[in-house]
Amino acid sequence: MPTIAIVTGASSGLGAAFTHQLDKGAFGRLDEIWAVARHADKLEALAQSLSTPLRPFALDLTQEDACEQIAHALAQETNLTVALLINNAGFGAFGRFSSVPLEHNAAMVRLLALAPVELSYHVLPYMLAGSRILNVSSAAAFMPQPRLSVYSAAKRFILDFSRALDAELGGVGIHVTAVCPRFMQTAFLDHTLDSAEAMRMARLTGFEKPERVAAKALRAARLGRALCIPSPYMRTLYAATKILPYPIALSLEQAVMGRSNS
Ligand SMILES: NC(=O)c1ccc[n+]([C@@H]2O[C@H](COP(=O)([O-])OP(=O)(O)OC[C@H]3O[C@@H](n4cnc5c(N)ncnc54)[C@H](OP(=O)(O)O)[C@@H]3O)[C@@H](O)[C@H]2O)c1
Repeated sequence: MPTIAIVTGASSGLGAAFTHQLDKGAFGRLDEIWAVARHADKLEALAQSLSTPLRPFALDLTQEDACEQIAHALAQETNLTVALLINNAGFGAFGRFSSVPLEHNAAMVRLLALAPVELSYHVLPYMLAGSRILNVSSAAAFMPQPRLSVYSAAKRFILDFSRALDAELGGVGIHVTAVCPRFMQTAFLDHTLDSAEAMRMARLTGFEKPERVAAKALRAARLGRALCIPSPYMRTLYAATKILPYPIALSLEQAVMGRSNS
């Protein structure tokens, strides 16, 4: 019975770190890794660096039929088990809502929220007890973030969706983990529309390493934990946002970040 993992956004940053760790056995024996990203050349380079066979899916997950193409590929297989689905592909546009082109915000919602919902739906029939879904959220999900409004809301969506689905599926031995990283020094920072502001914020809060985030997230998934916040600093922030009223939490965060809403 072939066993696979599916990783979206596998070609770079955190997704590449996940894929390399899966290749080294971090989630048990896999017959294949199915890797999704837009650029076929990057997926090809990734495949060359692995010992596990990689099946590339050069797809833009913001496009309507992209997830159906994966569903179709799954349906062609016999007795296939999906041990792990990692919904990781993403980008974040920084800036005031009206200054971000509408198509960017719409693409963010499709990629960060809709695609994981669609892929989870298509993949679940191929999962058994012990299978896992790992959804990449963000520390930006902890509270609504001005000038990151659509990104933080989409990351909140995937955080809440993951926790609800985990509670729903726990009875059949399938768990869903949401991982909430802080800033990581990846190509993400080059695609924010305002790289200088993203880098300024990142320098203030500090970076964590994608390899460490991937290792912590895979461990949390193996253990069937619903939430993984790898950074101790961000765990404290998360606890604070659960206690403090939003306006107070926001003004504290803005003071730390040296930002104002005016
Ligand atoms: N870096 C951070 O500071 C940070 C912090 C918290 C959370 N995150 C989250 O971590 C995840 C991974 O980001 P990263 O930091 O590793 O960034 P990254 O290095 O830019 O990687 C993004 C990955 O997503 C793929 N991708 C982007 N748009 C896509 C689309 N429309 N369809 C299919 N694949 C697409 C990219 O490949 P192609 O370009 O080939 O499509 C790439 O493989 C994202 O969900 C991000 O929101 C990042």
